[in-house]
This record gives sequence, C-alpha cells and structure tokens, in this order.
Amino acid sequence: MKHLLDTSSLSRADAIGLLDIAEEMTQLSAREVKKLPVLRGRTVVNLFFEDSTRTRLSFEAAAKRLSADVLNFSAKGSSVSKGESLQDTVQTISAMGADAIVVRHSAAGTAQRLADTGWIDVPVVNAGDGTHEHPTQALLDAFTLRRALAGVPASGAVAEGPRGKGLDGASVAIVGDILHSRVARSNVHLLDRLGADVHLVAPPTLLPWGAETWPVTIHYDLDSAIGAVDFDAVMMLRVQHERMHESFFPNAREYARLWGLSEARLQRLGDTFIMHPGPMNRGFEISAAAADSPRALILDQVENGVSVRMAVLHRLLTGQEETID
Ligand code: NCD
Repeated sequence: MKHLLDTSSLSRADAIGLLDIAEEMTQLSAREVKKLPVLRGRTVVNLFFEDSTRTRLSFEAAAKRLSADVLNFSAKGSSVSKGESLQDTVQTISAMGADAIVVRHSAAGTAQRLADTGWIDVPVVNAGDGTHEHPTQALLDAFTLRRALAGVPASGAVAEGPRGKGLDGASVAIVGDILHSRVARSNVHLLDRLGADVHLVAPPTLLPWGAETWPVTIHYDLDSAIGAVDFDAVMMLRVQHERMHESFFPNAREYARLWGLSEARLQRLGDTFIMHPGPMNRGFEISAAAADSPRALILDQVENGVSVRMAVLHRLLTGQEETID
C-alpha cells in the first residue's frame, strides 16, 4: 500500500490489517510516555485547503505520537490567496522535506491527483476530497463499531481488543445528507467490504444519483426504517449547508422533525449505538439527548481517530503490515 486515497479500493485484508495495527496503537495511551520512536526524523505535512478541527488535530497528534515532525499548512492565510496553484503549493512544501502528505481539499480527486501527477513522490493520505471520500473517518468508525459490538470499551487501551475480525452481519444505518457526504461514501464501501448490512436513510433529494446501484438498502422514512430493521448502529450525518446551492428540504424545523435523531426516536432505537463523524449540529440532525446518551460513541470515534491515523501513517511510512513491537 503506497497511498490511502479511498476505501473503495481497500481490500478487506488491508482494512482489517489497519484496524489491527490501530488496536496495538491504543496500548500507547495507557503508558506514561505516549510516544513511539518509529517515525523519528520523518516529516508529515498536513495540507488543509478546507476547514477542519478534529481531522487535522487528529493527524497531528497521530504523527507526533509516532515521533514524526509535523508541518501544518492551512489555505486560509497562505499564498493560495495570492493565486498560487495546487502544484506550486505542494511542490514548495515538499521541497521543505515532506515524507508524507495528508491532504484535504474541496475538489474531489485532489488526493488522487497528488498521488498520480509525479509532482511529489511520497505517500499521500486523503483527509477528505470534496464529496468523494474520507477513508480514515470510515476506518475509525469501523474500529469504534468493531469494539462496541465485541462488548469491550469502545475506546482506550484494551488488551483484549478484537483483532482479525470484520463487521460481518452488523446492520448499520447512515442517516441524512448522503448526497454531500464523503463520510457516507467511504463508509458504504468499507462497511460492505467488512461484511456489514448497510442501510441509507435520507430524503430523496439528499441521495446521490446511482445510490440504488450501491450495495445498500435505501429508506426514505426514518421512522419506518427504525420500525423495520433492528440496527446495531445509526450514523447521523451533518447537513452540509456549505455545499448546498439550492433548497433540498423545506426548512430546518421540518428536517429535524422528519430526519433528526430526536429523543423519541432514541427511545425507540433501544440499545442501538449512536455515531456521528462531527461536527454536530445539535437540535438539527441530532438532539442533545441522543448526542449525550450512554449509547453514543461520538467521543470514542474522536479518540480512536488518533490510533487509526497512527496505524495509517505507520503502515505507509514504514511499509510494515504487521503489528508493532
Ligand atoms: C466530516 C468531513 O469533514 O467530511 N467531518 C469530519 O471529518 N469528522 C463531516 C462533516 O463535515 O460534516
């Protein structure tokens, strides 16, 4: 594996291999010194052309825990506003000595372009490209769910954390703005590859063309989906207003009433796990009762994001498929 650009081309074995390395990485959080020397002297560049809180910080924490140096680039306040092109920006930064590039960009295909053009010759990790993919988010979601379903704490150092397994037979609903969600696309591919039964629940206006050809069951009504399927987990998605240039639903109140994870729906879901990639819009797609419920794995997802990104950087920069010593 040279790059991590998407989950659609990630094999089941590679995905499980990364989740297993991430299990090893969590052991570090129980140590007094939370650092491994494996990437000492290497430099990871975070190249963020789009806003981010958790993904950028998570990659930074992951690289630092592996003892790499980190250079953070954010397009806001950079020479991009002076007209510098993607090629010149990337080559300028890599001239400072990058050993890996983590890139987020509003244009789908940016990570693939960096991997293909020959502008740089280092591993590229896609941290979100437009509405296309966000593979590390799907991996951390799978990691969190694999643990929760195994009945072990969903995050933290767990010596007996599940290894070698997929998510076979788990039923997972992805609810909301599928159309604009790279998280949904990456999750559909990865969950399917790991053997889960994937359901999409959304108004027809927020489902992409061709979704009926994906390996999923589509529902247009959240209440009837909850009635029909015993979901192991429900992943709520943020409504991505910044990518909406027309009206996709009547108004926020109507959306919350029909598609939001209200307290009443939370009750009906019983012991289903609640997930959200963040950032959340409380009171819109998810109620405070659901976000703060004991069944919510939302902060576990954030915590596990660091271990999963450590696993990805470790795998790409050392080439080692096996777990660490
Ligand atoms: C998501 C993203 O940026 O794709 N957030 C994340 O990375 N955790 C989802 C979103 O912005 O709603």
